[in-house]
Amino acid sequence: MNIDYLKKQISEDYFKLYPHREQDFEELLDEILKYHTYMKDDLFITKSPEWIHSPNTIGMMLYVDLFNGDIDGLLNKISYFKTLNINLLHLMPLVKSRKGDNDGGYAVSNYRELNPKLGDMNSFENAIKVFHDNGIRICIDYVINHTADDHEWAIKAKSGDKEYQNYYFMYDDYTIPKQYEAYLNSVFPKVAPGNYTYVEEINKWVMTTFYPFQWDLNYRNPKVFKAMVANLLFYANLGIDMIRLDAIPYIWKTLGTSCRNLPEVHIILRIFRTILMEYSPATVLLGESIVAPEIIVKYFGNDSKLECDLLYNASYMVEIWNSLATRDARHIQNMPIYKGNRSTEWINYARCHDDIGWGLDEINLRRLGFDPLAHKQFLIDFYLGNFQDSFSIGELYEYDPITKDARNSGTLASLSGLEKALLERDNYKLELALKRINLINALIIFRKGIPMIYSGDEIGLLNNYDYKKDEDKKHDSRWLHRQKFDWGKLNNIDKCDAYEYFIFNNLKKIISTRKEVLVNNRIIEENIIYSDNIHVLIIEQITEIDDENLILIFNFSEDRQIVETQQLKRQGVEKHMVELIQGKELNFTNEYIQLGPYEFLILKEKNSCKIETGYI
Ligand code: GLC
Ligand code: GLC
Repeated sequence: MNIDYLKKQISEDYFKLYPHREQDFEELLDEILKYHTYMKDDLFITKSPEWIHSPNTIGMMLYVDLFNGDIDGLLNKISYFKTLNINLLHLMPLVKSRKGDNDGGYAVSNYRELNPKLGDMNSFENAIKVFHDNGIRICIDYVINHTADDHEWAIKAKSGDKEYQNYYFMYDDYTIPKQYEAYLNSVFPKVAPGNYTYVEEINKWVMTTFYPFQWDLNYRNPKVFKAMVANLLFYANLGIDMIRLDAIPYIWKTLGTSCRNLPEVHIILRIFRTILMEYSPATVLLGESIVAPEIIVKYFGNDSKLECDLLYNASYMVEIWNSLATRDARHIQNMPIYKGNRSTEWINYARCHDDIGWGLDEINLRRLGFDPLAHKQFLIDFYLGNFQDSFSIGELYEYDPITKDARNSGTLASLSGLEKALLERDNYKLELALKRINLINALIIFRKGIPMIYSGDEIGLLNNYDYKKDEDKKHDSRWLHRQKFDWGKLNNIDKCDAYEYFIFNNLKKIISTRKEVLVNNRIIEENIIYSDNIHVLIIEQITEIDDENLILIFNFSEDRQIVETQQLKRQGVEKHMVELIQGKELNFTNEYIQLGPYEFLILKEKNSCKIETGYI
């Protein structure tokens, strides 16, 4: 690591945040040097972040305790991950969090101690080595916007220590908080309205954007910045491959603004990225910014100033659920494809531990004749299962009576119709639900980026209503889809009449096809191919190797659909192609292509095709 080079790279940005704080800057650089001396040489599978572009990278996210008890339990399941070709694990918050409600671990009491239920830091460090030896990379959360109210800093602040009170936003009365509130929305309008909490112990108002027990860190204080960089390097030293920066849009606050997505946030991310690039180039940053589509992409930074290596493709996720509800692919078709720079990548996902927030591009909606507010109400009702003919069963999350905004909770399987079909013992609906799930998996796994499967979805876990009996959880419907992995159900993946068999084995097939078809190759660009059929989405994928391009066709409806080949030919698609999963050949000299209910086609030019096919 060349500290002088790094100094040059970050100083301009640093002094934008902290004008005239030369002494603090020197202290930051010393801290970086100090951590570097703790770093072990043999930590990384490779020294380059290139691995994020490999079509071989397939991720799964899970709560360690819910999955299989603890870190040892996780290690026992390496062969399970290998069966599915999973080689990236996002282990959700596993550091120590506060007792009682802790927002699923996102209220951190100590960034450097493991949750004692899971193991200790030594066992975790060893586990990382074992995972690496097995070709599996590890991602963990770094909750940077706030600490828990029982973090050491918060405890010191509560004891009256001014230095630590400056780590947070604290006020003696409500005057300034009130001025802030005038410009702010609530993230959790129902369970935690407002952005400030009165803390009786110290008779002060503390900024708490999320839950009242999550105290927002004050990045205007260079000491906070230094401490948070130090934690980042601590994780890099452990050998963590991907660090998920939680809730990034919120980390900088300015009175009189929305305190979301402010320019300083981007400066902080740039500095984080630049430090890591010099310090441990293979460690990448995944940013969680679930905001409007055009704002999300800004978190990639640009060619000369990178920010996050990876971002959640939240817009794509929402578009998938929207297209399934409407059976209309026009909106997802019009979604701008981010052409960005070569060093960044999306995380493609359908479900995660959070709710689905309906952040659709409003201009695009209006252009297609939808009223955005009414359409959002439709989607909310649809996925609750209230809308006539909806296939879904889900719950409401955080209804805001003022903005009428709400989000939805539920597992992939329940939102896709499996729960309802089983309840109604309707085989036709069951068949459609399974096809829908299969389609969603293909939409996630074949797109450019890293697919991230939410643990449990691979065997179609249904909504779990037990959270309503738990005092610490019953107010938060996200627990509907955060449940213990059901290892008993895994026995069903070998029984060909079980739905778990269908979901699991088809997912496995889709993943292995992606790996085989793109072996030694890489998708460099995606383009939309337009057809007159509004139920169908067609994507062309340009790959690094000539003549190995792919065409993906997805039918979002339960009816048979027809696409005229004439339209495709006009856009340059007229080869003799093979469908890679089902093995059927498609000749574009025919007038039409037919698609069955929720059918998808992964097409490759015939003469470049060596792949083994076969459908479950
Ligand atoms: C992130 C997490 C979410 C949590 C929030 C506050 O968005 O994904 O689960 O509630 O941060 O930390
Ligand atoms: C909001 C936040 C996001 C968080 C989510 C929790 O969408 O932007 O950070 O994950 O709420 O439900």
